[in-house]
Amino acid sequence: MDPILTGLLKPKSIAIIGASTNPTKIGYKVVLNLIESQYKGGIYPVNPSATEILGLKCYPTVNDIPYVVDAAVITVPAKGVLEVTKQCGEKGVKGLIIITSGFGEVGDVELEREIVRVAKSYGMRVLGPNIVGTLSNSDHMNASFAPFLPLPGKASLVSQSGALLIAMDAATYTRRVGFDKMISIGNMSDVDFAELIRYLSEDPDTSCITLYVEGLHDGREFINAARACKKPIIMLKAGVSEHGAAAAASHTGSLAGAAKVYSAAIEQAGITQATDLNDLFDSTLALSLQPTMKGDNLLILTNGGGVGVLATDAAEKYGLPLKFAPPEVQEEMKKHMPDFGSAKNPVDMTGMAGNDWYYETTKSAFAHPWVDGLVVLYCQTAITNPAEIAEAIHRGIKDAGVTDKPVTISFVGGEECDNAMEWLVERGLPAYNAPDLAVKSIINLRKQQQISEINNNGSYNPGKIDSEKARAIIAVARKAGRDALTEIEAKQVFKCYGLPVTATDLATSEEEAVELAEKIGFPIVMKIVSADILHKSDAGGVKVNIKNTDQVREAYRTILENARNYKPDALIEGVAVQEMAPWATEVIIGSINDKTFGPTVMFGLGGIFVEVLKDVVFRVAPISVEEAMRMQNEIRSAAILDGTRGELPRDKAALAKALAAYAYMVDDLKDEVAESDANPVILYETGKGVKVVDARIILTKK
Ligand code: COA
Repeated sequence: MDPILTGLLKPKSIAIIGASTNPTKIGYKVVLNLIESQYKGGIYPVNPSATEILGLKCYPTVNDIPYVVDAAVITVPAKGVLEVTKQCGEKGVKGLIIITSGFGEVGDVELEREIVRVAKSYGMRVLGPNIVGTLSNSDHMNASFAPFLPLPGKASLVSQSGALLIAMDAATYTRRVGFDKMISIGNMSDVDFAELIRYLSEDPDTSCITLYVEGLHDGREFINAARACKKPIIMLKAGVSEHGAAAAASHTGSLAGAAKVYSAAIEQAGITQATDLNDLFDSTLALSLQPTMKGDNLLILTNGGGVGVLATDAAEKYGLPLKFAPPEVQEEMKKHMPDFGSAKNPVDMTGMAGNDWYYETTKSAFAHPWVDGLVVLYCQTAITNPAEIAEAIHRGIKDAGVTDKPVTISFVGGEECDNAMEWLVERGLPAYNAPDLAVKSIINLRKQQQISEINNNGSYNPGKIDSEKARAIIAVARKAGRDALTEIEAKQVFKCYGLPVTATDLATSEEEAVELAEKIGFPIVMKIVSADILHKSDAGGVKVNIKNTDQVREAYRTILENARNYKPDALIEGVAVQEMAPWATEVIIGSINDKTFGPTVMFGLGGIFVEVLKDVVFRVAPISVEEAMRMQNEIRSAAILDGTRGELPRDKAALAKALAAYAYMVDDLKDEVAESDANPVILYETGKGVKVVDARIILTKK
């Protein structure tokens, strides 16, 4: 691990600059917190007008401390931080934990940058500014003004919001979800999420990383760090309202919102996405305490039919429908229930189930090779004691002798159930007060396993491409002062990256149009070519199914006339003569250049699916062919691609290749292409490929 970052996050000694004798001040509270958390390293308060704070010797400046100082917590007002940073640099401090507010978040980005620049010139790292500080149970360190260390546990939290960190800190006790570290990251002027993911991935006291994210500076670095992380990551993203859609020039641009692109990136990064704060806690509990679920066979044990049904519904809802247990599992279960119980799945031991039955069924179910994950449900009854049932379940799990499968538990009842669940959680068994939460959490563990099996890093080999030619085509358009390519140019660019486009050429006279039509072969399509007319159909600038030379001549004249009437001052280059691709399933591929994640591709079915249902998915480019296949399976109308109502399955393999090639192209041309569409792309039956029928490229502003 990087010794400087370790000095910042796991310091052996801490100076508090701006420490105060005034108990209402943050500088006092940090000193008190370090003492109360029983921090074992040196604690050195710094304040020019005090000699002692909370019984500790106080120094006028950091340079007066006669010992090595690893980290400095800074609690002086913003205007004094730069000077203090220099003093820390001279002292040889490794890292600054800048609690002070009043920098980038209120518009003073310059001062923040200057502090980081000075810090780095001395080889120091900066956490913050505008943070609560950092807390660590394993280091007995509360270097923050949060009231106390969190309930000890194996998860570690990184939060962009200080207030939320404090709230979560207190909630760890009521929610019974334990954390080892809680790191406030604030303005992320230097140390960011990506770096902390890499750090916590190596941290022996962290088993799961929990993130609260408002925004990222470098989306790609974040994805790379998350992909490389060996531990589960769960993230709550705040501020997902749509933005910028109205100003988009392409179809894809109008469909892409911050939320969709973030969701795509989170998915690609292999991160579990929490829906809200409750979900963040619930998912953290299971991900931090239990191993992942290696297969799809989920077994549910219950003493109540109702909670069993709720759990069954939840399994379906969260994507892992229950299967009937095989006969040998059922036989085993039947040994520990009355005749009127059900051993199928959920295994309903009925309200008569007592400690012994819970013990026996839990043990044999958990040990059975068919079972990949177990959910144990319990409803409080008059003939049982929740504490004893909890003990029986715990013993059953232990005696099964299995450690690589997950189990989650739900007790539904009163205070005794809550106490029993607390007891279970303390023993590493995640327990929830609702059956659907136990099911959702174990399914998260299944998804986490699936994520880790996906080879996210598989790349696409584009074969022969002609990047230079593509750039030359773009240069011509730029030279002409255009910010969009014509359809013909866009198709030529697509072709440079191996995308199958319909044969298209430009005719500037009737004669030329006839020649081209004969060369391409009838039927053909003819379209107006003008950078000033983007919506060609609206302008009457498109004629399809042209079958002979007479029709070519007539279409040529009509198209030009319509275009002139539509926009008299439009600069018209001519008429495109195109191969008419036979119609099949219409899909759309497109791209945007997202401000956080860079080039991002979109895929969806065409027509009403995209117009009305907005049934599209996104991925940050480039992507592998496997990832492109997953995109196709992810849209809501995915079944259409597999053939419905007697239609043959579509050529998903060819489409996956085209999607990967497209993503490769927009990534390669990220400095040139702002937005693009291949719309429609015609998708034929298996073995017959795809054809890009129309193309649009909007250039970046230079
Ligand atoms: N070296 C050492 N001590 C210094 C100093 C320096 N260069 N400059 C000032 N101090 C001392 C002050 O004398 C004072 O000590 P005192 O109580 O003995 O007089 C102490 O540092 C604090 O300075 P003060 O001016 O009293 O400020 P404050 O305590 O009212 O506020 C901050 C300081 C940093 C807490 C405040 O500016 C701030 O940023 N608050 C917001 C913090 C926050 O919310 N963070 C984000 C959470 S999400």
